[in-house]
Amino acid sequence: MPNPVIETSDISKVYRMGTEEIHALQSVTITIQRGEYVAFMGPSGSGKSTLMNIVGCLDTPSSGSYILNGKNVSNMTDNQLADVRNREIGFVFQSFNLLPRATALDNVALPLIYAGYGKSERQEKAREALRSVGLAERALHKPNELSGGQRQRVAIARALVNDPSIILADEPTGALDSKTSHEIMDLFEALYVKGNTIIMVTHEEDIARYAHRVVRLRDGLIESDLINQDVASHQDLIGK
Ligand SMILES: Nc1ncnc2c1ncn2[C@@H]1O[C@H](COP(=O)(O)OP(=O)(O)O)[C@@H](O)[C@H]1O
Ligand SMILES: [Mg+2]
Repeated sequence: MPNPVIETSDISKVYRMGTEEIHALQSVTITIQRGEYVAFMGPSGSGKSTLMNIVGCLDTPSSGSYILNGKNVSNMTDNQLADVRNREIGFVFQSFNLLPRATALDNVALPLIYAGYGKSERQEKAREALRSVGLAERALHKPNELSGGQRQRVAIARALVNDPSIILADEPTGALDSKTSHEIMDLFEALYVKGNTIIMVTHEEDIARYAHRVVRLRDGLIESDLINQDVASHQDLIGK
């Protein structure tokens, strides 16, 4: 039963730099169902970050429509967009983006302040999220007392804590060594199996291989959009 969480229709994005116009996205039409795990790939400058920013409600398209969870967000004001973003999207970045002076627990609890939860509920939910990424024992550590992989786990716990509709990860393994990258991909796989919708941007073929669908961009257009056969047969085996 299809249950689209993302539906873009012919979206474009034009950046104006003085008199120059940069067509970062030309015309992108894509539907992503709830529970999918999708990788966006493509060369530098192909529009991956621009598309992620629009999908993540950090920016709006210049034309075309974007329906998120049945709601047309293409023409929302910045405040409305921030509200949707806080409720619907969990972000994971290459550089972790943690507050350096805050503990892991406080970093994870941060989105819950905006969501209006009281302190004890925030702590409880943040502890649970840290537990789900295997970091319960590190709750009171600060980022500089954690390894890169552990920092990214904290960031993933923060992305999950609000129970978002989508997890958006922009180069989530870009700052990690190869072994740690695969550990983080194992964690994403576990989140996917639990039913989360995941969209990640990556340059790396061996990271994209974890996703079940790979969308390749070129010059602001979708060049290909393919189900990952390796993963598909693996999913048959595990009965997903
Ligand atoms: N804020 C901006 N202002 C002007 N041009 C931009 C801006 N962001 C991106 N671009 C341009 O849009 C194109 C697509 O960029 P981007 O989406 O960052 O690509 P990718 O993430 O695939 O490397 C590039 O030509 C880039 O230079
Ligand atoms: Mg980019």
